Amino acid sequence: MSEQEKKIIFSGIQPTGTFTLGNYIGAVSRWGELQDQFNCIYSIVDMHAITVRQDPVQLRQKSLEAYALLFACGIDPKKSITFIQSHAGTHAELSWILSCSTQFGELSRMTQFKDKSAKHADDINAGLFTYPVLMAADILAYNADLVPIGEDQRQHLELARNIAQRFNGKYGEFFTVPEAYIPKVGARIKSLQDPEKKMSKSDENPNACVFILDEPDVIIRKFKRAVTDSDSEIRYAEEKPGVSNLMSIYSAVTGKEIPEIEREFEGKGYGDFKLAVGEAVSDRLKPVREEFARLMADKAYLKECYMEGAKSALSISRRTLTKVYRKVGFVDAR
Ligand code: TRP
Repeated sequence: MSEQEKKIIFSGIQPTGTFTLGNYIGAVSRWGELQDQFNCIYSIVDMHAITVRQDPVQLRQKSLEAYALLFACGIDPKKSITFIQSHAGTHAELSWILSCSTQFGELSRMTQFKDKSAKHADDINAGLFTYPVLMAADILAYNADLVPIGEDQRQHLELARNIAQRFNGKYGEFFTVPEAYIPKVGARIKSLQDPEKKMSKSDENPNACVFILDEPDVIIRKFKRAVTDSDSEIRYAEEKPGVSNLMSIYSAVTGKEIPEIEREFEGKGYGDFKLAVGEAVSDRLKPVREEFARLMADKAYLKECYMEGAKSALSISRRTLTKVYRKVGFVDAR
């Protein structure tokens, strides 16, 4: 397939906290696989991150780490445009234009806004409110066809579609209306301590969540302490959410199917099983951890990559923005 025929994928990830095993299995590890099939554009969305209070020194460090982690997880800067959002000022510019095609009422209905304003009641800033418009700008600036996201971002993507359609309605067909791209399997990794809840980096229980960069002994300890249930059968079933979650994780990191896993652990106890899952996860993440350490020690290379990424991102998004400015009736400055 020629480069022009390939569909365009855009996704963004916030540079807050390190990625979790859930992020890895459900999202980032798959991003690498998409590179040959699609034209992929990935961004570390630092401008989204400051909608909640950030320590500047930490934010800078976390952004670099998140950027390096994308490569460690399999994204190739030669195949995919990989950049830091604030390096492309076009996103904020486009966001302004799009905000004028977004209704106050729509933004008020965003559940993430409601959740975050409840959580940060002392800082319900306008950025938190208009966050989904910036996200729409990220996507529409590249006329992305597909947007890999988790379930929690579905509503934001739906809004991006509405904004694109409304703009097209006002000014004539222009933006591609993007579609969500939600992976079928492994998308819903649950907390190791409460398998009814999603695995989340903000969980208060430190044993609930595994991070990509956790050391092997930490990973194994967390799995040893994982919640299972009162019988001792290793079987995938709705009434056994803890065991089923561990089986899904094991399946995702080893590539084994569930029936195969059931056979493998027939007659064995939870102790053996949890250790096997811990070891499999730790083995799978080892090369990621090593590559991450190597990249973080080579800041010059990282800089070369994000400067190059910014250049490519700007060249595409600038072209979109120029056309948008013309469409809305701004005086041409070129
Ligand atoms: N809002 C997304 C999240 O928190 C991150 C994001 C920002 C994003 N811009 C995007 C995701 C564009 C996909 C496309 O997960």
